[in-house]
Parts: sequence; C-alpha cells; structure tokens
Amino acid sequence: MLFDERPKVKREELFDREEELGELEKNIDRPLILLTGVRRIGKTSLLQVFLNESNIPFILTDCRKLKENYGWKDLFELLARGSNRVIEILKGIKGIRIMGNEIEISWKGKNFVSLSDLFDHLNKKRLIIAFDEAQRLRGPLSKEIKEAIAHVYDYDKNLTFILTGSEVGLLYDFMSIEDPSSPLYGRFYHEIRLERFNKDASFNFLRKGFEEYSLKVKDEVIEEIISFFDGIPGWLTFSGNLYVNFKDVERVKEIAVNVALNELKNLIENKRRISEIVGRRYLYTLKCIADGNSSWSRLERCLSDREGTTISSSVLSNILKQLESVSLIKDYDFLDPIYKEASRRLSL
Ligand SMILES: Nc1ncnc2c1ncn2[C@@H]1O[C@H](COP(=O)(O)OP(=O)(O)O)[C@@H](O)[C@H]1O
Ligand SMILES: [Mg+2]
Repeated sequence: MLFDERPKVKREELFDREEELGELEKNIDRPLILLTGVRRIGKTSLLQVFLNESNIPFILTDCRKLKENYGWKDLFELLARGSNRVIEILKGIKGIRIMGNEIEISWKGKNFVSLSDLFDHLNKKRLIIAFDEAQRLRGPLSKEIKEAIAHVYDYDKNLTFILTGSEVGLLYDFMSIEDPSSPLYGRFYHEIRLERFNKDASFNFLRKGFEEYSLKVKDEVIEEIISFFDGIPGWLTFSGNLYVNFKDVERVKEIAVNVALNELKNLIENKRRISEIVGRRYLYTLKCIADGNSSWSRLERCLSDREGTTISSSVLSNILKQLESVSLIKDYDFLDPIYKEASRRLSL
C-alpha cells in the first residue's frame, strides 16, 4: 500500500524512484555512495528496496539507535544486529565472542579487534554496508570510523558503503572530505540526492493511494494537499493515510503541523540545555524566518526586536549555520513548509 507509513521495502510499493534505483545499481561497485535529502523524502525506502532487490548481501544499520556518546560496543552491536549473515562472519573473528544475540568484543590485549580488522574480515565476500542516518556516527569515535572507511577504500575492494543522511550538513561535516586533516580527505563519493515529487507525480501518487482504498477524492482536495505538503513523499503518505481516516483536509494539516512542532520543540529543548538564552535565540530565529524575514538584515532586525537587544553577527551566523546543517533551512527559508508553519506556532 502506497500510504503505508513504514519505509517501503518492495519495488511495487515504491513510487516513482526508478531513476534513483538505476543510479544506485550503476554505481554499486564504487566504494562510497551517499543518499541525501530532507527528512521524509524517501531515503530509507529507496535504500531498502534497493538492498532487497540486489543480489549482494548487506548489513543495514540505523544509526539513530546510537546514543550521542556511543562506544565501540554499541557500534559493533549495531553492525552485528544489522544482519544475521554477519553474525556468522563475526563468529570467525578472534576477539569477538558471540552467545546468542549477545556479543562481546575485546577492547585491549592481544585479541583486540579494530573496526578496520572487522572490515577486512567482512571483505572475504562481496558486501554492502549501509549506515542509515550516518551523521549520527559523529561523536568520539568519528575519527576512527573515518580511518576504517578510508582503509576499506584502499584495501577492501569487496565492500561498498552506502551512507544516508537527512541532516545533510552534519553528514558532510562528519565526512569532512574537504578537510586535509580528515582521513577521508579528497576521496570521491557518489552522491544521489533525493528530490521531492513534482506536481504531477504528487498528484498521481495520491490518486493511486486513494484508489487502493477505493476512495473517490475530488481533484481539488488532492491539489490542496499537494500545495500544503509540497511534494515531500513522507508527508504525502502521512496525509493520504490520515485523509482516508478523517476525510478532512484541515484536520490532516493540523496533525502534520503538530508532528513537526514536536520535533522543533525537541530541538529547542536541546539548545536550552546549553542555556536559556541559546534556546530562546533558536526559537526566535525560527519564528523570524517563518515570518518571512528572508535576508540577513531583516532577520537581524526581527531578532533584536524580539529580544530587546542587538544580536552579534557571529552568534546569528552560527545559529543559521546550525539550522542549515540539520537541513531545516537554506537561504533564509525553510526547506519543508510544514516546519515553517510549525515554527510560526512556537512559543516560549
Ligand atoms: N517513493 C515512495 N513511494 C512510496 N512511499 C514513499 C516513497 N518515498 C517515501 N515514502 C513514504 O514516505 C515516508 C518517509 O519515507 P522514508 O523512506 O522513511 O524517508 P526518509 O528515510 O528520507 O526520512 C514513509 O512512510 C514511506 O513509506
Ligand atoms: Mg530514513
């Protein structure tokens, strides 16, 4: 079903991504592929459909499961859980002990196993290693992980990495391909950027989805959904699904905005942990941008009006950079209209 809210796993359920599937296929022998695009654009769906169709065994890990200061054990467990096949491969490795689903890894001593060692073992067979939401690999181990990926790049020709990222700026930061001190400096990666559906595709997607429920929906309703949700497949799925239940577009919009609002509240809550002022500044910045202050000077004015004091340009530029790196905004506007609407409703 097109309106199934889980990431799709079969080609029949995946709408309009033939080109991207083909591009993955064509490039799958490269060492490193990036799948990027805003939240809900369909990265996980594309990745899963591709992996399930491909004849190549794979490990798929969801890096959102890693806590912020994750350690080696967390990472190895995530990798091991990513595929039963790999449990088998892990079994042969000195320094890794497997009992059922429990894994013990030696950190030190003569049986110490490093990530590069692990990859060398996996390299015995052709294998795809996919890290979904790979920007979450940032953290204390990021240097070692990049070194291991660089090692694979040079020596392990049987391995291909596919990294996805919703927070595209953070993913680039993690890889730091342009930073001479980074282990991945100057390495080529093939990037596939997922874009939203155009109007026709969005229309056909919704029409087809409603037909699966034998539901007759007026063109105007479909057009209203498209103009509000702007062709982002995840929102179209979400709204199609809710419309089937409620037959009420306003209610559907309201629920979607509340979902986005909760995410933004979490973001601001995290900033509040740094300090009350920082949290407030993020909140005001989001509100000012949502209100259409789409240039540096207008934004600066809006913020100082709200705060009652001027804001230094380095502070503002840092906030903008952060909001860009998590793919919320670009060029003083929101990438996703639902977050824009949600930002208007934020309050202290
Ligand atoms: N091409 C597509 N065809 C059908 N459903 C899709 C498509 N792309 C995304 N979806 C749906 O949209 C939602 C978000 O997709 P997901 O793959 O989780 O996006 P991402 O990983 O980019 O956040 C899911 O409900 C998924 O089923
Ligand atoms: Mg995803």
